[in-house]
Amino acid sequence: MNLSSPPKLLLGVTGGIAAYKAAELARMFVKAGWQVQVVMTAHAAEFVTPLTFQALTGRETRGALFDSAHEAAMGHIELARWPDAIVIAPASANTLAKLAQGRADDLLSTLCLATDKPLFVAPAMNRLMWANAATQENMATLRRRGITQLGPGSGAQACGEVGEGRMWEPEQVFDAVCAALDSARDLDGVHAVVTAGPTREPLDPVRFITNRSSGKQGYAVAAALVARGAKVTLISGPTNLPTPQGVLRIDVESAEQMLGMSLAVAAEAQLFIGTAAVADYRASTIAPEKLKKSGETMTVTFSKNPDILATVRDAQPRLFMVGFAAETENLADNARAKLARKKLDLVAANWVGEGKAFDTDDNALQLFWDGGGTEIPRAAKAIVAERLVAVIAERYRLRP
Ligand code: C5P
Repeated sequence: MNLSSPPKLLLGVTGGIAAYKAAELARMFVKAGWQVQVVMTAHAAEFVTPLTFQALTGRETRGALFDSAHEAAMGHIELARWPDAIVIAPASANTLAKLAQGRADDLLSTLCLATDKPLFVAPAMNRLMWANAATQENMATLRRRGITQLGPGSGAQACGEVGEGRMWEPEQVFDAVCAALDSARDLDGVHAVVTAGPTREPLDPVRFITNRSSGKQGYAVAAALVARGAKVTLISGPTNLPTPQGVLRIDVESAEQMLGMSLAVAAEAQLFIGTAAVADYRASTIAPEKLKKSGETMTVTFSKNPDILATVRDAQPRLFMVGFAAETENLADNARAKLARKKLDLVAANWVGEGKAFDTDDNALQLFWDGGGTEIPRAAKAIVAERLVAVIAERYRLRP
């Protein structure tokens, strides 16, 4: 990602005692040469005054959505386009909920809805509010949409309790944002294709065979690629997931449709990441009418589906290709065999079955490439995706 010069940060401050840490954060960005525009929610102004930020940033702190003087100078849509990145620190439970729902009932939430810039949130709240299933689900939704979560940390809280929910220290937030924006540059100009989700292989007009893949890992990989500057085309089987910000999504159903679309798009791409759980077989014939209930048993004959990765590899020998290996046994041997058989540049292997990987929110991967490998320990799929894409970017740059 190319930052403007000087880089521009929109710092959202929401209502919580950690709002005082945002003052230090604003100062750090200003010291590092950034232009910083602070937008406060009404509740934030109960904790720290707008004047504090104005003095630190040299720019008038914005708060109201419909303020005619401000709207005349820089309207809220213009303001949403202005920054290179938006950081909300502290991000209250209420703000996370509003972002997850796509509300636009104050200036900050409206800006977040009207922007396509990288968005970072540093949650800060009481430990029970953070642990609440509602907050966790909201945060998971935001991560799936490509929003970067910074913290929270654990420790003593202002309310007197001890636990998870403390805002990261300003320095941690500053370092993480800078590192993310820095690394964002390394896939600039690269077109990546990601296949994701299950396929559906029809039996008749109303029935199909599919698998438990949710598409979550593939969508997270697509979001992580965008975060590093890649142009991303996501070829997706049926899922219930929102399209990550900045991703072009093409919906398909069967393996044959996924292959056709993959071949077409791969011709103009440099990276291809096959996370889809493609059905190995399809019904040899698809009944034109709904199959009727008749005998006690029923026999369906299946034919082998084309292997998408292997076919795309044959068509595009220069493409950097990553495959997934979902295994229930002999993980390393099977993954290495796949690397060679499908002529891949990298294989990401995970254990599946017994509640692992498929349709869950976390994952762990073992990566294999010719002559090497590494491990990504269990974490949220968004975090696993970021680490995987970091390795892909490095291997992609290193290849001859
Ligand atoms: O051979 P296997 O199905 O175990 O390989 C898994 C990897 O191959 C995944 O990356 C998956 O997306 C890809 N695949 C494919 N076409 C198929 C089956 C799997 O591209 N027909």
